[in-house]
Amino acid sequence: MEEKIKELLGKMTLEEKVGQMNQYNGFWDVTGPPPKVGNPKVKYEHLQKGWVGSVLNVAGHENVREFQKMAVEGSRLGIPLLFGMDVIHGHKTLTPIPLAEAASWDLQAIEKSARVAAIEASARGINWTFAPMVDISRDARWGRVMEGAGEDPYLGALVGAARVRGFQGKDLAAEDTIAACAKHFAGYGFAEAGRDYNTVDIGTSTLYNIVFPPFKSAIDRGVKTVMNAFNLLDGVPATGNEFLQRDILKDKWGFQGFIVSDWASLAEMTVHGFARDLKNAAQLAVNAGSDMDMESSAYITYLCELVREGKVTENTIDDAVRRILRVKYELGLFDDPYRYCNAGREEKLIYHPDHKKAALDIAKKSIVLLKNKNHLLPLDKNQPKIGVIGPLAGDKNSPLGSWRLGSDDNTAVSLLEGLKEYTHEIRYAKGADLVVGKASFIEEVEVNTTGKSGFKEAIELAKASEVVIMVLGEHGFQSGEGRSRTRLGLPGVQQALLEEVYQVNQNIILVLMNGRPLTLTWADEHIPAILETWHLGTQSGHAIAQVLFGDHTPGGKLPMTFPRDVGQVPIYYNHYNTGRPTPEQEVFWSHYIDESNQPLYPFGYGLSYTTFAYSDLTIDDTEDTLVVSIWVTNTGERAGEEVAQLYIRDRVASIARPVKELKGFHKFMLMPGESKKVEFSLERDELGFYNLQGDYIVEPGLFDVWIGTNSQEGLQGSFELKEERVKEMWSK
Ligand code: BGC
Repeated sequence: MEEKIKELLGKMTLEEKVGQMNQYNGFWDVTGPPPKVGNPKVKYEHLQKGWVGSVLNVAGHENVREFQKMAVEGSRLGIPLLFGMDVIHGHKTLTPIPLAEAASWDLQAIEKSARVAAIEASARGINWTFAPMVDISRDARWGRVMEGAGEDPYLGALVGAARVRGFQGKDLAAEDTIAACAKHFAGYGFAEAGRDYNTVDIGTSTLYNIVFPPFKSAIDRGVKTVMNAFNLLDGVPATGNEFLQRDILKDKWGFQGFIVSDWASLAEMTVHGFARDLKNAAQLAVNAGSDMDMESSAYITYLCELVREGKVTENTIDDAVRRILRVKYELGLFDDPYRYCNAGREEKLIYHPDHKKAALDIAKKSIVLLKNKNHLLPLDKNQPKIGVIGPLAGDKNSPLGSWRLGSDDNTAVSLLEGLKEYTHEIRYAKGADLVVGKASFIEEVEVNTTGKSGFKEAIELAKASEVVIMVLGEHGFQSGEGRSRTRLGLPGVQQALLEEVYQVNQNIILVLMNGRPLTLTWADEHIPAILETWHLGTQSGHAIAQVLFGDHTPGGKLPMTFPRDVGQVPIYYNHYNTGRPTPEQEVFWSHYIDESNQPLYPFGYGLSYTTFAYSDLTIDDTEDTLVVSIWVTNTGERAGEEVAQLYIRDRVASIARPVKELKGFHKFMLMPGESKKVEFSLERDELGFYNLQGDYIVEPGLFDVWIGTNSQEGLQGSFELKEERVKEMWSK
C-alpha cells in the first residue's frame, strides 16, 4: 500500500494533492452554517478536476455512485472520494443516543449498535462516519453531552473503543465496514458555561488525564480519522493547534490516519481573532497538522499559493495526502470505488429485522431506574386503570433523539404503541404540548411555556386512574449541537403539569425522555417511581413497555452525574478534594449556602427491580497483578443485572489525584438468592496518571479502593503500592 501511495503521489500535481485535502458538503444538505465561499457549480467543476478528496452528507447508493463517477471517471487520476456523514447512533434504524448507550455499561451491545449503524450506512454508500464523539463533559448544560459517553475518561475510553470496533469491524475493506472518526480534538466538551462553541480553558492535568484518554484509546484501537474542534484551547483554536495535532496526536501517539477539520472551523479561526484572513487560516491549520478542510474552501483556494510562497512545504502537503490516500486504500476504494453503492444491499439491509432486534436490546439496557418506592414498578400485567399523561407518550419523533441525519422522521415506536402490546386498558391525555409549532434539526425549538388547556383533561384522567404513567422530558431536538440550556428542569409547563396531577393522584411513574441530565429534585422528593429512558431510538416504546411491565429488569447506570440544581454544574464524581471539603467550622468550607454539595443521583447510579448486597472485600497485592474481589448477592426476588464498579484514590501524589477514579467494572446477572465472587485485576501501571509534562507516571504510596454499586456507595479497603514494586514494574 505504501508503495502504491508513493507511486500515486509521484504522479499528482500540487493542485491534485491539495484537492485531496478538500472536503465539500453534498450541496443540498447542510449541517452547519452555509459556506460563504464556493458555489455548487464550482464544486462540480472541482470534482471533475480531482480537486475534491471527500464529500459529506451525500447518501443513497445512487447519489453516491453519481458523485463517485464524477471523481473516478471525470478526473485525470480517478482517485475515489470518501463519503462522510454523521452516523451517530444509527443511520435509518436508530439505536439510543450515545449517552444512553453508555448507561448500559455493556461494551458488546455498544459495539453491536455501531456495527448495525455501519451496515446500514455502508449500504447507502457512506464509507466514513464522524463518530464516535469521545469528548468528556461535566456540564449538562452543553447540548452535545447526548453525543458522548458522559463524564468519565475510563468508561469513555472503553465505550469509544467499542464504537470504533463496531464501525470499522475487523476488515475495513469489507463492504459493511466504514472508517470511524474520534472527535472533537480537543477539549470541546469543556465549553465554558456549557454554551456550545465557547472558549475552553482547562488545566494541563485535566487535559492529559480527563480529555485525552478516550482519544488515545480510539487511536490504540486503530481509528482511521480524527476531527479537530471549534473551540479555543488556551487561546489557540484546536484547528490551528500544533501542540494538539502534531505534538500529541501524530508524534507522541503515532497516529497514522488523517485529521479533518470541523465544519468551517478553518474559516472560524479568523473570527476567533487567530488568523488574519482565510489564507492565513489555511497556512496555520495545515502547518498545525490539520489534513482535510471541511467546508471552508481555504485549502483549495490558497494552499498551492502558500506552497509557492514557501509558507507551507510540499512535504507537509505530501504527508497529509499520504494519510488521506491511506484511508482510501484501506477502505478498498482503489480496488472498487463503487464498493459501497450496491442497490441490493440498500434494499435488503435498511431497517433489517436484525437491526431492530439489536436496537431493542441496547434500548432496554440503556434504561436507568432512578427511584422505585414501595416497588411500584414493575406493573402487574393485569393492572387495571392505567392513565398515561404527557406530551412525549405518543411522540414518534422525539425518542429518535438528536443528530440523526440519515433517519426518517416519526419512525420510533411511541410509548403508547409499546404499551398497547401489553394492554388495551390504557387511557391517554396529553396534558400539554411540549413545543409550539414544528421542531426540526435546523430550527430552534420553541417550548410551550403557557398553554395549559389540556391540564383539565389530564387531571380528570389521573383522578379516574389507579396508576399514572407520566411521560415528560425534552423534545428530541432540545439536545445536540447548538442546544445548550441554562435551566435543566423539565421544559415548559411540564413541571406544573406534574405537580397538578400529583395533587389528585400520587401513584405516579415518571418516565423521562431526555438527552442530558436534568434537575429532578422535586420529582425525586414526591414521585414514587422514576425511570430514565433518554432518547432510545427506533424501538423506544417497546423497550420502555418491557421494563414497565417487568419483562426486562432495568440495569443501566448513569454515565453522568445528575445535579440537584443547575448552580452546581459542573458537578462530577472524580473531583479534587479541595483544602476544605468538610464543615469543620460553620462558614469557611467549600460549600453553597443554599444547596448541598451532593448530586441528586451520582455517577454510576441506577437501581434494579431486585437488590444487591456487597460483602467481603479482599485485596491481594502479593502478586504482580493486584486482585481486589468482593461478593455480590442478589437479595431480592427477581433476577437482575448489576454493574459492580471499582474506584481508587491515590491518597498523596505529586499532582493531587481525584477523590475517586473508576478503574474497572463488571456487569453480570444474578438469580434471586444467588451470590457471586467478583474479581478485579489491576495492573500496577493502571494506578498512575499523567504529570504536567504529559508523561505517564506511577508513584508509590497508599491507595484507597472501593467496590460498589455506584460512585458514592461501596466497601472500602486500602493497599500500599511499594517503591520496589514500582521500580520492578518499570524495569520490566
Ligand atoms: C459538528 C461535527 C460534525 C460536522 C459535520 C459539525 O457542526 O461539530 O461533529 O461531524 O458538523 O456534520
